[in-house]
Amino acid sequence: DQDRRARALLATMTLDEKIGQMMQVEHGSLKDPNDIVKYHLGSILSGGGSGPRNPEDHNLKGWTAMVQGFQTSALSTRLAIPILYGEDALHGNGNVPGAVVFPHNIGLGASRDPNIVRQAARATAEEVRATGINWSFAPCVAVPQDERWGRTYEGYGQDPALASLLGAAAVEGLQGGRLSDAASTLACAKHFAADGGTAYGSGYAKDGHGLDRGDARIDEATLRRVHLPGYAGAIQAGVGTIMPSFSSWNGVPCSANAHLLTDILKKEMGFEGFLISDWDAINLLGPDYKQDIATSVNAGMDMFMITDRYQTFFDDLKALVGEGKVTPSRIDDAALRILRVKLAMGLMDKKFTAAANEKLQAAFGGVEHRKIARQAVRESLVLLKNERQTLPIAKTIKHIHICGRGGDNIGMQCGGWTLNWQGQMGDVPGGTSILSAVKSTVSKDAVVTYSKDGTGAEGASLGVVVIGESPYAEWFGDRADLTLSQEDSDAVANLKKANIPVVVVVLSGRPIILGDVVNQADALVAAWLPGTEGQGIADVLFGDYKPTGKLSFPWPRSMDQIPLHYDDKTVAPLFPYGFGLGYGG
Ligand code: IFM
Repeated sequence: DQDRRARALLATMTLDEKIGQMMQVEHGSLKDPNDIVKYHLGSILSGGGSGPRNPEDHNLKGWTAMVQGFQTSALSTRLAIPILYGEDALHGNGNVPGAVVFPHNIGLGASRDPNIVRQAARATAEEVRATGINWSFAPCVAVPQDERWGRTYEGYGQDPALASLLGAAAVEGLQGGRLSDAASTLACAKHFAADGGTAYGSGYAKDGHGLDRGDARIDEATLRRVHLPGYAGAIQAGVGTIMPSFSSWNGVPCSANAHLLTDILKKEMGFEGFLISDWDAINLLGPDYKQDIATSVNAGMDMFMITDRYQTFFDDLKALVGEGKVTPSRIDDAALRILRVKLAMGLMDKKFTAAANEKLQAAFGGVEHRKIARQAVRESLVLLKNERQTLPIAKTIKHIHICGRGGDNIGMQCGGWTLNWQGQMGDVPGGTSILSAVKSTVSKDAVVTYSKDGTGAEGASLGVVVIGESPYAEWFGDRADLTLSQEDSDAVANLKKANIPVVVVVLSGRPIILGDVVNQADALVAAWLPGTEGQGIADVLFGDYKPTGKLSFPWPRSMDQIPLHYDDKTVAPLFPYGFGLGYGG
């Protein structure tokens, strides 16, 4: 069994080799490619943060070659222990051009459907593994308490039970029920704990309104009730890794909290996998790097995500063991946990070649995965308003006008963590915009016009205006004000001037303040961040799929209703938690 094999391997390892296994270095920070061998590195990552995270040849082939190169180095070490290669495949392997991009978690939350979450995660695992990458820092099981938080869209919703149900489904999909399967990807539940429960103004955003990396000022009963069920679900599903949060709990950083990491997570909740720190988390703990390493290792951190300070990290941790500040048994426990996961993944079995699998490469970005993503989009859409049966639109329509910043913008559909850490407006290879999806849905002789600003709809019998948020990730998305931009309100107002039924589609990572747009819209659809498959939106607009999505957050009427909680009965939101219309019949 894996535990026995891992212990036998551990018994042959030097302290240096064990410490190396506990290190995950960001690939662009490696000063010398041979450092994988020199430091016996256990893992490499392409992370979200700054730095040259992509290979020069930024495509499937280039990624595969890059990962293979690192793996070959690892296999040339004395014990030939393969590396885990990690990345943020949060909604598909969005790092690699041509990958299928699935809806972000907030949309999947609206689907309430563990089956589609499992399928999307399985397809993601296959697209990740196609490159030789074998670990994704997903799923995020955060339960966001304040939609001003820039990571709100990474959570499934405000009900802890939903985080547990869908988080477990995502783990099952990524890890495939059998980690040793060549199409399985190691999962990572994050960010432990209460990343979504931080106090407004306690976060990292420099102008004082931040929530990300902030402080959760809540008692233990609340932490357990709201923020732990997602992890219980993930552990039940066999999640191999968990990422402690950058954020703090009542002033103590989670990455330095022995009560959270060891007492609660490992001992009480029975987590047997390993903990991977967030990006350079040790740097954030305080000014004394060496002391902070000791605090975090002793709190229970097993592997450390590091950028340019990896040589110092290695020397410091080794010295700490020599000085008796970190015990050899803690090092053994950390290394053992990592080795067990590697063995469970079959990485050390003979059949392991590290080579990307040809079958998976052929399926990368392919129709089967796009079908799953399209279904996920259909299920994630929430119909919020539909006056005079504006929807579904008849496919026989003669002239339809599509407009707004999101009308022909796949990047805006995808949001953050797509091609770039912060995402990007514009094209995403292989994707379908709402405009092209509408064109392929209506009859060949129909006129489909487009304008960004909502003008030019004369002659059309209906207009669809797509508005919302531009892409962002992490604290870049922390906002003091969630009011719709002037440009977006103007686009709706301009379209309104044509005196035709107006369908408003909102692309956003959270409920936003829509103001008068709610009254101007004849029909209103929350599409969240649906990803590359814009056809799923057209399927709902034209009735090929009847809307079934339900809000997984209450939708506030105005900023003064924020933060708004799903179980708060004293406030009347614009649309309550669980709201979502159908087409009837
Ligand atoms: O996995 C992420 C995490 O969610 C936020 N900080 C960076 C990590 C690696 O990119």
